[in-house]
Amino acid sequence: MEEFFEERKTPITDTEHRKGDDVWTFPKDFRIDETWFDHKSRIHGKGHTLRVMILADTLYKRALKAGFIGTPDGHGHEESGRFGASYPLDEPAILYRDLMAATLIHDLARRHDGYCTEHGRWAAETKRPIAEKFLGFSLFVGEWATIAGAVTAHSRRDPKPPSPSYRPGSLTALLKDADGLDRVRLYEAPDPAYFRHPFTAEYIDFAWELLDTPIPELEKTVASLGLPV
Ligand SMILES: [Fe+2]
Ligand SMILES: [Fe+2]
Repeated sequence: MEEFFEERKTPITDTEHRKGDDVWTFPKDFRIDETWFDHKSRIHGKGHTLRVMILADTLYKRALKAGFIGTPDGHGHEESGRFGASYPLDEPAILYRDLMAATLIHDLARRHDGYCTEHGRWAAETKRPIAEKFLGFSLFVGEWATIAGAVTAHSRRDPKPPSPSYRPGSLTALLKDADGLDRVRLYEAPDPAYFRHPFTAEYIDFAWELLDTPIPELEKTVASLGLPV
């Protein structure tokens, strides 16, 4: 795999890892390389990934305001249980970081554009190096398990409630709703009944706007994402 973040050519150290936990910020030189995709696709390619990252950022910020994240009743990281993750995620910024990594890799391992429930699992099995390069440090086993779990779940049908992946503000729910909003790329309006947050449908117009935005502009927007420091 090609090096893509110039300043990160040095080996990743444990110190850097811990530092990254506290202060991760979006890489300003962020670019998606076409070679990261196992299957060249217009509908699940670079444009889709960039739009899903922007939509996930928007939904995360709304979920935070709405109290779904970082409150005793919110925050869906209990979902990690099934996949063995165990790190405590009291920090909304870590959920944001995980969400950006998950959205980046979620469709990189597609093998075709048709209906497929396995490409999330394939991404979880093979795209960890891209997620870690993007984040700028290596993830602990439990941290990766949470991201891998959400990415695996994104291409599966939702399990019946009260599955944590339904839980508003969870990593899986945010990823799935952002991905669902970009169904506009198929020139069909997403069905709000499938959304996992009460406010997701309010962003359908925004999703259409993004669809009309050229890729270089999307790329610039993604590089300017992040949480207020
Ligand atoms: Fe997908
Ligand atoms: Fe997708």
